[in-house]
Amino acid sequence: MAVLVTGGAGYIGSHMVLALLDAGQDEVVVIDDLSTGFAWALPPEVTLVQGDMGDQALVAETIRRHKVDAIAHFAAKIVVPDSVTDPLGYYLNNTVKSRALIETAVREGVRHVIFSSTAAVYGEPAVVPVPEDLPTNPINPYGRSKLMTEWMLADAARAHGLATVVLRYFNVAGADPRGRSGQSTPNATHLIKVATQAALGTRSHMEVFGTDYPTPDGSCLRDYIQVSDLADAHLVALNHLRGGGESLTLNCGYGQGYSVLEVIQVVKEVSGRDFEVRLSPRRPGDPSRIVAEAERIRGLGWTPRHDDLRAIVSQALAWEGSLATRNQR
Ligand code: UFG
Repeated sequence: MAVLVTGGAGYIGSHMVLALLDAGQDEVVVIDDLSTGFAWALPPEVTLVQGDMGDQALVAETIRRHKVDAIAHFAAKIVVPDSVTDPLGYYLNNTVKSRALIETAVREGVRHVIFSSTAAVYGEPAVVPVPEDLPTNPINPYGRSKLMTEWMLADAARAHGLATVVLRYFNVAGADPRGRSGQSTPNATHLIKVATQAALGTRSHMEVFGTDYPTPDGSCLRDYIQVSDLADAHLVALNHLRGGGESLTLNCGYGQGYSVLEVIQVVKEVSGRDFEVRLSPRRPGDPSRIVAEAERIRGLGWTPRHDDLRAIVSQALAWEGSLATRNQR
């Protein structure tokens, strides 16, 4: 049976594809519109269907042709500040098209769905580390667009007998330790990506968005999870579902928070480069602190292998360097 990975040519999806192949999954099919992903991010044995995961005819035909028994749904827009300026674009991509995908899964009899949700569903949590059963209260359109999909999936699972694992990602970072994939989007806004670009000189400086938060150094706190560890969490979820397990919602993080200023310091130390850092006003939509309580997924047998911020930064620097070489070719 095949696994269908939506958004498999993107940053996290491409690491999932590698994890599936490394774990011996024979057939992996990717559907991706290549809006932010790259066909070259995929190994040659993977089938790439270039198109929209909300295109029901295309997805149904792909499911039938490849005998798909599980869908891992990554395809989404993911930039919090963009969701503030373009909420309807976010609701279309992340919510409306996900509804179409879920309906296709139901009609085609695909029983297992793993959904890429986000810590942004918690908003500004009252408790840190955040347990999964804390009431959700997203503070930006991105978080709301994902939470609505969580609700649709839960309702569809109850009504139509799907089994689903919702994974709430904290801040995903780093790259494949073997250098096969990484974060390639040219205009990525994520902190570690931006800081590595500043260290390597592909951008002249960087900004810290907000130094007046109620945190020890005034900058925001985040829980940075390495991307291959996150992909492994999906394998745990897939085995759970294929083994007949019940629907679950799981946080994916390490339970350790780092401030923006701490992360920048680590990037400077690991790269050995100093770069200009400007202290700027807050960015719309940012919660001050968000750190995972991740005991539930550890209880299913997930053991992180790359829980080390310096190693994460070093992978991100190596990948950024390899992208610069690729772009010069
Ligand atoms: N930041 C800066 N300067 C930058 C980029 C980011 O100061 O150039 C700050 C942000 O303001 C924020 C922190 O670094 O305080 C992290 O920002 P990111 O853009 O790296 O990530 P977000 O926390 O906004 O969002 C990410 C994912 C979401 C996910 C969330 C979960 O993009 O999908 O983590 O915490 F929901």
